[in-house]
Amino acid sequence: MSDDTLAWMNELTAEMEERRKRVEAGGGAERARKQHEAGKLTARERIEALLDEGSFVELGVFVEHRGGDLMDGVEAPGEGVVTGYGTVDGRTVFVFSQDFTVLGGSLGKMHGGKIAAVMDLAVRTGAPVIGLNDSAGARIQEGVDSLSGYGEVFYRNAVYSGVVPQISAILGPCAGGAVYSPALTDFVLMARGTSYMFITGPEVIRSVTKEDVTFEELGGADVHNRTSGVAHLEAEDDEAVLAMIRQLLAYLPQSAKEAPPRRPSRDPDDRETPELLNIVHPDQRRPYPMTEVVKAVVDDGTFLEIQPEFAKNIVVGFAHLGGQSVGIVANNPRHLAGTLNIDASDKAARFIRTCDAFNIPLVTFVDVTGFLPGVAQEHAGIIRHGAKMLYAYAEATVPKITLIVRKSYGGAYLAMNSRDMGSDVVLAWPTSAVAVMGAEGAANIIYRREIQSSSHPEATRAQRIEEYRRRFDNPYVAAGLGYIDDVIDPKDTRRHLIRHLRMLEGKEKTLPFKKHGNMPL
Ligand code: HXC
Repeated sequence: MSDDTLAWMNELTAEMEERRKRVEAGGGAERARKQHEAGKLTARERIEALLDEGSFVELGVFVEHRGGDLMDGVEAPGEGVVTGYGTVDGRTVFVFSQDFTVLGGSLGKMHGGKIAAVMDLAVRTGAPVIGLNDSAGARIQEGVDSLSGYGEVFYRNAVYSGVVPQISAILGPCAGGAVYSPALTDFVLMARGTSYMFITGPEVIRSVTKEDVTFEELGGADVHNRTSGVAHLEAEDDEAVLAMIRQLLAYLPQSAKEAPPRRPSRDPDDRETPELLNIVHPDQRRPYPMTEVVKAVVDDGTFLEIQPEFAKNIVVGFAHLGGQSVGIVANNPRHLAGTLNIDASDKAARFIRTCDAFNIPLVTFVDVTGFLPGVAQEHAGIIRHGAKMLYAYAEATVPKITLIVRKSYGGAYLAMNSRDMGSDVVLAWPTSAVAVMGAEGAANIIYRREIQSSSHPEATRAQRIEEYRRRFDNPYVAAGLGYIDDVIDPKDTRRHLIRHLRMLEGKEKTLPFKKHGNMPL
C-alpha cells in the first residue's frame, strides 16, 4: 500500500471513529449525569448489564433523523435508540434501548425504523426481541412521521406475536399511545419508582375529570403490577429488571419453532415430597400457600412467579421439572378462597396462551370451589372473561397435566383443564374431591323438600350433608368414570409429574383448519 493510500485510509478511519464516538456519547455527559441522578442507567449501560459480557454487536450505528422543518440543525446521535444483538447465557437475543439523553428518547420515523429492523432480523433468524423503553413518546417535531414510526413497531409487535418471544422493560417514561408497543409484547417488566405507563397523564386527567394524581399513583410499577395487570414483573431498579429478564429467558425457547432449553439439575427425579402433607391441610376450609406446594415439587424449589401481586387467587409462573421448562397454573386458596374471578381468568388465559405459543408444557394444580359469585363480577362480564380460560386451555396443544390437590367443583373444574377440556393426564391426591358443587350446597338443593318438611330440619340437613360428603367428596367417583387417570400419594407427586412429562415429550396435536380462532376478548 502506498503512503498516500495509507494516509487516506487513516483519515477515513479517524473520521469513522470520530463519528462513532459522537453516536456513542448520546446526549452528552451532562444528560448522562442527570440520568444517573434519577437512579437510571444509560441506554448503553443497560445493554451491557443485560447481555453476556462483550457480546453486543451494534446495528444501524450511523442512522440519522430524517427531520422536517422543525428538526433542522437538531442533532440526534444514534437517532435516540441503540439497537443490535448479543447473547444471554450464550443464546442470541436482539435488543433496542431507547436513549433518554437524546431528545428525551422520543421516537421519530428513523428511530422507529431502527427498532423495526432488529425485529425483522429477530424473526428471520428466530431469536427473542428485548425492548428497553425510556422515552418521552412521539417526537413532536416530526409530526405524523413519528406516528408512522410507532406504526412500524406496533405492526411488528402484533404480527410477530407468537413467532419469537418479545419482552419489554419499562425503565422510564412510557406514555400516550407509546404504551401499546409493550402492551402487545409477551412480558412487561417495570423498575420501581423510575418508570411509569399511562395513556393520558396527570395534567390531562386533572383538566378532564378533576382527579388529582401523581405519575407514580397513576401508572407506576406498583399500580401496573398490582391493580391493572398491565405489567408482569417489577424490580427495585434497572439492574434488577435486566437480571430478571435474563432469568425469564431461561424458560423460553428462541422461537415458536424450538423447544425451551433444558436446565440440568441435581435434584433427583424421584425425590419424595412428604412435606406436602404438612402444607395441605385435610380440613378443606383451611387455606395454605399454593406456591409452597409448587416449590416443593419443582426442580431445586425454583419457581419464577409471573404477576405475583395481581389476581393473587391464581398463581402462574415458570419452573423446571426433570430439567424441562414448564408453565404452572394453580389456584391459591389463600386469596378469595382460590375462586376464579375476572382478573384471575384473564391472567391465567394469557399465561396459558404464552406457554402454548412457545412450546412450554402446562402443569395445573387444582383447588377450586368455583367462579366468584357476586353482582359486580356478573355485571363486569365474568362470563366473557371466564370463557377465555376455557378457550385457552382447550386450544393449547402443548402437553397438559392436571393435578387435583383438593377441591375441584363445577364450572371451575372444567376451567382448570379437566380431562374433557383436553388434559393429557389427570392425577389426584387422595385428599381431593370432584363434584358439581360442595356438599353443603348440593345437600341444600337436592334434599330441600325433605329438610323443609323435617321436624328437625337442622339435624336432617347435617345428616344429608355428611352423607353427600362421604359419597362424593373424594376422587374415586371421578376416577371410576375415567376422568382421573390415577390417585397418587402426595409424596410421589414429583416423580409422577416428571414421568408423565417425559412420556408427553413426543406429543403431536393439531387443531382443525381455521384462519384463526375467535377467542372471547
Ligand atoms: C421531542 C422531547 C419530547 C418529545 C421531551 N423532549 N419530550 N423532544 N419530542 N415528545 C425533549 C425535551 O425538550 C428535552 O430536551 C429532553 O427531551 C428531556 O425532556 P425533559 O422535559 O427535560 O425531561 P423530564 O423533565 O425528565 O420530563 C420527561 C417527560 C417530559 C415527563 C417525558 O419531557 C414530557 O412530558 N414530554 C412530553 C411527553 C409527550 O407529551 N409526548 C408526546 C405524547 S403523545 P433538551 O434538549 O432540553 O434536553 C405520544 C403519541 C404516541 O407519544 C402515539 C403512538 C401511536
